[in-house]
Amino acid sequence: TTLVKSLFRETDKFIDKEVVLNGWVRKIRDQKNFGFIELNDGTFFKGVQVVFDQNLPNFADVAALSISSSIQVVGKVVKSQGAGQSFEVMASKVDIVQKADLEYPLQNKRHSFEFLREIAHLRPRTNTFSAVFRVRSVLAYAIHKFFQDQGFVYVTTPIITGSDAEGAGEMFRVTTLKLDKPPRSADGKIDNSQDFFGKETNLTVSGQLNGETFCAAFRNIYTFGPTFRAENSNTSRHAAEFWMIEPEIAFADLSADMELGEAMIKSIIKYVMAECPEEMEFFNQFVEKGLFDKLNNVLNSEFGRVTYTEAIDILKKTSKKFEYAVEWGMDLQSEHERYLAEEHFKKPVFVTDYPKGIKAFYMKMNEDGKTVRAMDLLAPGIGEIIGGSQREDNLEILESRMREIGLHPEEYSFYTDLRRYGSFPHAGFGLGFERMLMYITGMTNIRDVIPFPRTPKNALF
Ligand code: 4AD
Ligand code: MG
Repeated sequence: TTLVKSLFRETDKFIDKEVVLNGWVRKIRDQKNFGFIELNDGTFFKGVQVVFDQNLPNFADVAALSISSSIQVVGKVVKSQGAGQSFEVMASKVDIVQKADLEYPLQNKRHSFEFLREIAHLRPRTNTFSAVFRVRSVLAYAIHKFFQDQGFVYVTTPIITGSDAEGAGEMFRVTTLKLDKPPRSADGKIDNSQDFFGKETNLTVSGQLNGETFCAAFRNIYTFGPTFRAENSNTSRHAAEFWMIEPEIAFADLSADMELGEAMIKSIIKYVMAECPEEMEFFNQFVEKGLFDKLNNVLNSEFGRVTYTEAIDILKKTSKKFEYAVEWGMDLQSEHERYLAEEHFKKPVFVTDYPKGIKAFYMKMNEDGKTVRAMDLLAPGIGEIIGGSQREDNLEILESRMREIGLHPEEYSFYTDLRRYGSFPHAGFGLGFERMLMYITGMTNIRDVIPFPRTPKNALF
């Protein structure tokens, strides 16, 4: 059979030829003696127009087809007079594979994203979600390509782990369910015998610590996998289950880390714009007006760079009123991040050298003893899209930082060993895959860029 994508991309090759198409009825309308089907076969953003008439022995059945019915069409590709498309398929045969139930929930009208979230199994069949999830796939490939082209080694890191990479404590516990025993005993205590081999484990919040061990062997590596955070923030930018890309580079400092992040973001935007022109055009027209201007601005600008201390000054000097008062040492709230990216810099901006108190234990201490070599990339409309740092490579300082926040260095010997056996300056970052996808598509809710989002309200299938 012929793929609809080939029909669109190499139309001339098919004119006046017979093709066989498999697909689903996206739209159908019929006059008395003829009708049109928009057939979508999943290979292309658009469907192909199929014209049928009374020469079909089953004309009446075809004319009565319901939306989403599966069919096979045999027909000739002809140049089309109609506006909007350059060709159509004149059907000589339409086999009905299955007539869809008339209750099909996606009739031809606009549905709200909220409604579509409740039918996550059907929403990939709509224009918007078809575009989102194809771009998601191409974006994932673009990221692998960016790193592989430069010789980075892809490392898969564990999902079940005993360590807490971020020290944030917002983790999902892993327990074994034994059918004859409830997870808690009568006095309310958690039964540890049901943990993973008797050890406390959780779903990973980040693959970074494992990634660093491979960095010490392969120099430049990246991870790309699912991560889990039990954070209660019910925002449009936080998910309990999301994907993260975490490169780690050896013999590199914070500025090399930022250069890598900037090059990566530009490269993957370029790739998606080139490979998904129809989907991107759709987003630009219907999802975020001015999306192309925004993305071209990102491609053509140099990202801003500002220290946390300078950023605090900028925030203090503006006449803008914030809900949270600005003072040195505070974590930047989303209103502050938005002001910096959207109103002050008007492009993505790296904020660096945060106070150690609001950042993870593994970040390299600056000479001032107060700040660490951290960087967050803030993007207009999204906020934090990347979080990264140069890592503490001094064993004594690292161990004392761990103790300060209540971690036991003995339990992290796999990590501290890297500072015993050939320590080296290194840095890395985490890119939130869904936040990047939101940025590229203009979609504004993280639940609408994850195929099956994990939220309490949605069915967990
Ligand atoms: O800033 P974070 O917490 O950094 C780390 O996990 C480091 N271990 C990364 C590293 O240096 N290797 O998370 C990195 C990024 C954030 O910038 C954000 O884009 C995304 O992950 N992220 C989330 N995305 C969706 N939902 C959530 N709950 C997220 N939490 C973080
Ligand atoms: Mg962060």
